[in-house]
Order: sequence, then C-alpha cells, then structure tokens
Amino acid sequence: MITVRDLSKVYRQGNREVRALDGVSLTVPEGSIHGIIGHSGAGKSTLVRCLTMLDKPSSGQVEINGVDLTAARSDALRKARRRIGLVFQQANLFDSRTIADNVAYPLEIIGAPKARTREKVTELLGLVGLADAGAAYPAQLSGGMRQRVGIARALATDPDVLLFDEPTSALDPKTTDEILDLIQSLHYHANLAVLVITHEMHVVKRICDSVSLLEGGRIVESGRLVDVVNRLDGRLSQALLGIPPHVDLHGVGTLVDVLSSGPKALQPVVAHVSKAVGAEIAILAGSVEHLAGTTFSHLRLEVPDGVDPQSVIDELKALGADAALTSSLQHVEEVA
Ligand SMILES: Nc1ncnc2c1ncn2[C@@H]1O[C@H](COP(=O)(O)OP(=O)(O)OP(=O)(O)O)[C@@H](O)[C@H]1O
Ligand SMILES: [Mg+2]
Repeated sequence: MITVRDLSKVYRQGNREVRALDGVSLTVPEGSIHGIIGHSGAGKSTLVRCLTMLDKPSSGQVEINGVDLTAARSDALRKARRRIGLVFQQANLFDSRTIADNVAYPLEIIGAPKARTREKVTELLGLVGLADAGAAYPAQLSGGMRQRVGIARALATDPDVLLFDEPTSALDPKTTDEILDLIQSLHYHANLAVLVITHEMHVVKRICDSVSLLEGGRIVESGRLVDVVNRLDGRLSQALLGIPPHVDLHGVGTLVDVLSSGPKALQPVVAHVSKAVGAEIAILAGSVEHLAGTTFSHLRLEVPDGVDPQSVIDELKALGADAALTSSLQHVEEVA
C-alpha cells in the first residue's frame, strides 16, 4: 500500500521558487494500479523521485506499507527502499553485464547468497518471458525486451510496490500492449500496489483501476476509472473517451454532448429524443468504449435551429444519460 499525504516539493531556481509538487495526497492499495497523468512539467518525475526519497520532499509524508519513508534514516530508509521497485522509460541496463547479471544486480547489492540469487534470477526471467535470454547482453535485445529486463530487475528484492515512470513511452503500440499485459499479470500475481506515471491515455484505459490528473504539482481530478469517466464535465472523461473538443461539421444548430454508461450506453437515445422533440437530431461524433468492465457511450449531437437545446438535454437526462451544451465543457487538449 502506498499512502501519500500532503506532499510538497519546492525547488529553488536562482532566487525563484518552483513549487513542483503542491499538497499531493493519494492512496494505492495492494492489488491495484493507479495512473498519474499530466502534461510535461506537471511534476510527474518529481513525484517519483519524492516517493522513493531520491529527492527529499519539502513537506508531507510518504508511507509504504505503514513505514514512513520521510521519517526513516540511513539503514531503515535503505531497507524501506527495497520495498519499492522502480522502472523508467529507458531500462538503463549495464551494457557490459549479461541480462542475468543485470537482474541479479539489486541482490548483489544487498549481499544475497549466490545460489539464492541464481534461483531468483531464473524465476524472474521466466516471469517476464525471457527465460532464454539470461546469457545475452542488453545490446542484443529489442527495446521491449530491455524493458522486460528492467521490470525483472525491479522485482528482484520482492517489492510491495512498483513505480513506473513512462514505462512504454519509447515503445511501439504492439510492444506497449505486451508490456502493459505484463504489468497487469504481475500485479495480480504478486498482489502489488502499482503506480504508473504516463502521458498516454491508452495506458490508463488498458491497465489502471484508478487515475489522477496532475497539473502544476496538484492533483486536480482523481478517482476510480469508472467514476472519472462517468462525468460529462470531467476532463479525464473527455480525454479518456476522446471526442475531439469542437467537432462542428455542419456549423448549424447547437451542439450537445451526451454520456451514458452501462446498459444505458446501448439504448437508441438519439432516435428516442428526436421523436420526443419532433426534430431530426444528427450525431456528429461518437465514441463507445469498454473501460473497467463498463460500456461508455459519448456522443456529440446537433440540435437544429428552432429546437430548444435545453428540451433535448432534459429528454436525455430523463433517459438516465448525462447531457450538456458542448460549449460548456472543457477542452480535451487541456488534459494531457
Ligand atoms: N532539480 C530541479 N531543480 C529545479 N527545478 C526543477 C528540478 N526538477 C524539476 N524542476 C521543476 O519542477 C517542475 C516539474 O518537473 P518534472 O520533471 O517533475 O515534470 P514532469 O511532469 O516529469 O515533466 P515531463 O513530462 O516533461 O517529464 C518543472 O517546472 C521543473 O522545471
Ligand atoms: Mg518526467
């Protein structure tokens, strides 16, 4: 379990202060994957560094399974850090070491017995699908394979928590999905608390149970994936369901967005509302997604001139959908 309370980090740049993290709180229980999404400069990497005490937070607390890292010193801190596995965008492997020796490295550092280390390395390479690659060198592997080695190495000390900083940003879409499947299978297998920092919505959709939007060092939206998606006015919902902000193909009439979820997502709401208001309503854009076991439908409708858009919104709401004027919603580009 990761517990972050009111975490802040202020850097000094000359005589200017940069508040890279500003009162961040979050909880990631065992067996769950939390995504942190945000623009460049939002504070994502600072968060990773502060969580692992590679950088000292200015204030606030970080607890891993009840151990307060911010209060721990030297030996206790070193021990607590072993509970955290870290994976970066580039695996940063030692080029002169074999794959097996790269994975063994954290165990050498803590002076684990050689036989135990060999056993563990074999187990981990099997777990990440590289059972036959132990004798190879990093230069002989693809980017996806190197990332698997990085994950195996992060698991060497049996951590409770895995932190990923942009784990798939350097990979092609197919390899990305393979790595995401691996992350998901590992967290079930070892009941880990996983935090994934990313700027890719695809990563959040595919593996995260919950997600936070980080902006200017603050968490501005956060929650279970099903809940954040199910809010028409939510920026994460807009970004995750992904209708471009101002699809306005006709340029006549008024645009209305409608969001429905679960069994309601598949109802013929537009036909129903067209009948109810006695006008033909067009669908300009639409997105149907299956996320976190639920179906979400997000449509952008055009209400013709002469029909009160509010009457359409009221009809849609009566059907159990959420609806609003498109112009009242936030832009998707503002998210990530
Ligand atoms: N060591 C440092 N000294 C001074 N300022 C820093 C330092 N590290 C980060 N910052 C500042 O803190 C803010 C957050 O930076 P951070 O690297 O955490 O962003 P990020 O979300 O990881 O961005 P990216 O997506 O580009 O990796 C930025 O304004 C950055 O300039
Ligand atoms: Mg970064």
